[in-house]
Amino acid sequence: MTDPDEGVLAEMLARARAAGGRAYCPYSKFPVGACVLTPDGELFDGCNVENASYGLTICAERGAVCQMVARGKQAISAVVIWTPAPRPAAPCGACRQVLNEFGPDALVVSVCAGPEVLRKRLSELLPDAFGPANLG
Ligand code: THU
Repeated sequence: MTDPDEGVLAEMLARARAAGGRAYCPYSKFPVGACVLTPDGELFDGCNVENASYGLTICAERGAVCQMVARGKQAISAVVIWTPAPRPAAPCGACRQVLNEFGPDALVVSVCAGPEVLRKRLSELLPDAFGPANLG
C-alpha cells in the first residue's frame, strides 16, 4: 500500500486538529482528534466524546471509524491523530482493534504540541491481530 503524500497528510492533520477542537472531554480535559483516509481518498474525522459514566467514553479514532462506516466506506489506508499534549498519543488498545477491522496495514501518524511525531503501521502497533479472517 502506498502511503498518502505530504499534502494529504497535512489535510488530515488539519481535519484531526479541528475535530479535536470539538472534543467533549470535561473529565479528562484531554482533547483528541482523528482523521481516517479511505483508499479512494475520502476523509472522515472524529473527536473523543466523554460521559459522566466514565467508561462510556468514545475515543476520537472510533468516532472517525463510525463516521466512515455510516457514510458507506469500509477501508482505511491511514489515520492521523492529534492531541495538544507534549508527546504524541498512540491509539489505545480498543481503537487499535477497531482500526484493524478496516485497515490492518494502515499508516498511523500521531501529532502533538511538541516536535515528536509517531509514524507506524497499525500492524506494528497490533501484531498478530485477531480480525475478520479469523472468523473464516
Ligand atoms: N482517547 C482517545 O480519544 N483516543 C485514544 O486513543 C486514547 C484516549 C481519549 C479518551 C478520553 O476521552 C481521553 O482521551 C483521556 O483518556
